[in-house]
Amino acid sequence: MSREAILEDLRKKVEGCRKCDLWRTRNRIVFGEGPADAEVMIVGLGPGRQEDLQGRPFVGAAGKFLDQLLSEAGLSRDRIYITNVIKCFLPGNRATEEHVKACTPYLDQQIEVIRPKLIIALGNIAACYLLGKFGLRCEPMEKIHGRAYDVSSLMLSLRIVPMYHPASALRNPGLRDKLIEDWRELGRTLGDLAPAS
Ligand code: URA
Ligand code: SF4
Repeated sequence: MSREAILEDLRKKVEGCRKCDLWRTRNRIVFGEGPADAEVMIVGLGPGRQEDLQGRPFVGAAGKFLDQLLSEAGLSRDRIYITNVIKCFLPGNRATEEHVKACTPYLDQQIEVIRPKLIIALGNIAACYLLGKFGLRCEPMEKIHGRAYDVSSLMLSLRIVPMYHPASALRNPGLRDKLIEDWRELGRTLGDLAPAS
């Protein structure tokens, strides 16, 4: 089965998912979008209102800023696979441990199928989940933002870069310049990623 077909099957599963209480308040799942063989993945927290209505990740205000950050790094959105830790609308943007536990098997499968070289983890929850998955200890975002963590497991070998969530810069304008600088720096290091295998 092709990677596209595996992802399509998984999307159908998520469409019928009722593993946590968030299914009750969703309009549409936000599964994720992008090439099934993308070298770069972006993982946010979960859908906001706009995303819930459109069924697409990062199409609201935070998405607009993310688009700017991508261009600061010289990345083009259509070559990236963008998804979230949580696939259903998150009221108040608050995810509980139960939500994360219930939903991350889907993210794990997306990562296993896509096999990216780089995952940019937006915000604490995405960063801590992904670092933890590879046995690394999570630290506060003030400390880890912009750092490159090269990790590997039996199946995967990739780089994780935690970043402040773009929505946090909308709430706290002081973070805006830090984010822009982190993404520019990320852009300068992209050429160091492992060559295509
Ligand atoms: N914030 C997220 O974490 N994900 C989205 O898709 C949109 C906003
Ligand atoms: Fe299922 Fe995830 Fe939606 Fe919960 S948030 S119902 S686990 S898809």
